[in-house]
Amino acid sequence: MATTAGPADVQSGLTTTKAPFIEQAQRQGQLYIHQPYELYSEANHEAWRKLYLRMTDRWRRYANPAFLRGIENLCLDSTRIPRLEDVNRFLNPLTGFKARAVSGYVPAYLFFDCLRRREFPTTITIRDGATLDYLPEPDIFHDIAGHVPMHTDRAFADTLVRFGACARTGAQLVAGIDDEHERLMVLTSIMKALARFFWFTIEFGLMRSHEGLKVYGSGLLSSYGEIAHSVESPMVQRYPIQLEWVVNQYFEIDHYQPLLFIVDSFDHLFELVGELEAWMKAGKLDNLSPGEPAVQEADLKSFLEAGSGAGA
Ligand SMILES: [Fe+2]
Repeated sequence: MATTAGPADVQSGLTTTKAPFIEQAQRQGQLYIHQPYELYSEANHEAWRKLYLRMTDRWRRYANPAFLRGIENLCLDSTRIPRLEDVNRFLNPLTGFKARAVSGYVPAYLFFDCLRRREFPTTITIRDGATLDYLPEPDIFHDIAGHVPMHTDRAFADTLVRFGACARTGAQLVAGIDDEHERLMVLTSIMKALARFFWFTIEFGLMRSHEGLKVYGSGLLSSYGEIAHSVESPMVQRYPIQLEWVVNQYFEIDHYQPLLFIVDSFDHLFELVGELEAWMKAGKLDNLSPGEPAVQEADLKSFLEAGSGAGA
């Protein structure tokens, strides 16, 4: 049954944590949804406008060239929340990627497997205009203005696909472990490795360039305060990326990152993903240092189902 809009939707718009349309979709167990564009309120568009306009100078100064090209190529409107179908019309011919609307949290395996298929699970709600600066959950500004411009770049897009494929490798590997306790322990460790790698590269990565450090991580690209802090602040430790460090390094999401890692290029990042997969196959990710991120039950289940064939 399709989720339909009611009178309550028109009043609340599609504001993060306050959208009846999303609550209904979640109640009905619908993960993949459409973008009910008519439900965005003027306040929602105003939040997009403010978020977008204050970022433009910062992007010019701190973002890597692939992102800046991506913003151009997507023809995003700075004054209105974009329609996903418009974004995809420009994005899809470039790299085969497309943004796909979701109702909320996507269990880890499903999320990674979407990347493998060149789909990006995309949040359609937008943060409340009164709290522009910090939001624990993603919103359409983070997903479309922070992530999707990167997906227009061939080398970056291929890296994401290869990373997504690592999840399948992990699910298949642990499916071969007979002892249930050991299976869960190894899976938890492999999932931490994937989450940590994603965090320190796709979300918070820095890249070396002739003009100094540039930002390619989407968590930084969608943050007005942290994009400058990540490059300029003496309070941030910035190191050349080392895989063995990244997979063992815990992180916290509710403050500016004290530690960031630098890659040389997207080809370098692509090679690292290959190395990550090789380490997984060699058992080097089976018992990583504990700590954040916590692995949720739904995430574990998504991997176990995929490994047993049920979710493949
Ligand atoms: Fe993100």
